Amino acid sequence: MGDSETGQVSEDAAKIYEEVYLPALFKEWCPLVVEAANIQKGHRVIDVACGTGALAITVSDHVGTEGTTAGIDINEGMLNIARSKSSSVEWLNAPAEALPFEDDNFNCAVSQFGLMYFENRENAIREMMRVLRPGGSLAVVVWDELEHNPGFAAENKLWQQVFGEESKDESPNKLGDKSVLENLFKSSGVSNVQITTHQRTARFESIESWIHAGAKGWTEDDAISDDKLRLLLKTAEEELTSFRTVDGAVTFSTSAHIVTARK
Ligand SMILES: C[S@@+](CC[C@H](N)C(=O)[O-])C[C@H]1O[C@@H](n2cnc3c(N)ncnc32)[C@H](O)[C@@H]1O
Repeated sequence: MGDSETGQVSEDAAKIYEEVYLPALFKEWCPLVVEAANIQKGHRVIDVACGTGALAITVSDHVGTEGTTAGIDINEGMLNIARSKSSSVEWLNAPAEALPFEDDNFNCAVSQFGLMYFENRENAIREMMRVLRPGGSLAVVVWDELEHNPGFAAENKLWQQVFGEESKDESPNKLGDKSVLENLFKSSGVSNVQITTHQRTARFESIESWIHAGAKGWTEDDAISDDKLRLLLKTAEEELTSFRTVDGAVTFSTSAHIVTARK
């Protein structure tokens, strides 16, 4: 059963997330996070809200055999896919708000597009800082505001047009306002943060694969019937043509904030 507030997806949705969403939207952020957290060979690193594991696996390749990587998430469907992809990472089902590690354990703590879904964001930030060694680095990525993410804004508008105002889901962008983000870290006891904003390009094979992934590869998958999906896809083909490239693919720019801090 999906839940848009907490980012919880079903097993089937996790598969679509891995096959469509990850390569189209999320994967290209991994090298930036590795760089922002200054991850080095031999480091011990934790990836919080690891999903299907793209960032943790990138990290694990980076730290090499002398380092270690842990990936934690609360979604078993996501974790099962992560486990099938790599045995070099220690995958654990645990909440960000109660990390199953001792204090001062890791050189780096990273988290990519998860913070907005945590039930208690302040506790999660405190936990990431607690498990970091003194001098260790934190890097957390969240989507920028909707106005800087035209593809997400158009998708939201489409859902409203087809299903009404209440279908609007702004959860992914709720930490997009930099002052809100900075205040969240401050109120979690981390006052010395740096926030940098970066752009990337999302690429889907087609309008259909983009909108189908939004409907079936994320938290709404069981809320939408086949008839509703057909209507959504038909309307998308009419309304979203400006995102289509000559070869039928879809591209749009994405913008996200990377928050970094040191313990
Ligand atoms: C958009 S996905 C991002 C996954 C991954 N970091 C990536 O970049 O592909 C958000 C993830 O946050 C996880 N999540 C939500 N709340 C959580 C919590 N309280 N503790 C741990 N993980 C959580 C979800 O299960 C989901 O896998």
